[in-house]
Amino acid sequence: MAETEKEIVTRRKFLTGAAALIGAVGAAFAAWPFIRAMSPTKDILAAGVQEVDISGLQPGQLKTVIWRKQPVFILKRTPRMIEEASAVKTSELDDPAAPEERSKEPELFVSLGICTHLGCIPKFVEKLPESDVSGFYCPCHGGKYDNLGRRLGGPPPENLHLVRTGS
Ligand code: FES
Repeated sequence: MAETEKEIVTRRKFLTGAAALIGAVGAAFAAWPFIRAMSPTKDILAAGVQEVDISGLQPGQLKTVIWRKQPVFILKRTPRMIEEASAVKTSELDDPAAPEERSKEPELFVSLGICTHLGCIPKFVEKLPESDVSGFYCPCHGGKYDNLGRRLGGPPPENLHLVRTGS
């Protein structure tokens, strides 16, 4: 028995529709693990966040905490320190950054405590060598950063790396 053109078109439509539905269901099952993998679990999110009590931190004091096995500097800046960093001409820095880019709240500075040269841990000093301003000094090869971790001299190629803070 010969099929009419209408019957052929109807069967083709059914097969096309069925294939599209199977494809959509297949795509839904294939997408689930991928989507789930894209949503970090609560414990993974929590592993990246650390709360630090800085209520006892005095002006001029540096607190070093360990986060992800790395030292993190939290410096409570004094009005003098804020003034010193404001006096630095951003345009003269090798790795230019304005004070407001380096610190959300002027009284607090937070960065990784790792020199960007070869990874030593810089020290906070009231006066950098051959200078009257406070900052971070890396004794390994003489790297100097201001109190906002901006590179002032020595071999470090860039500023101290900031750590994101906030609630
Ligand atoms: S590691 Fe800091 S200056 Fe070299």
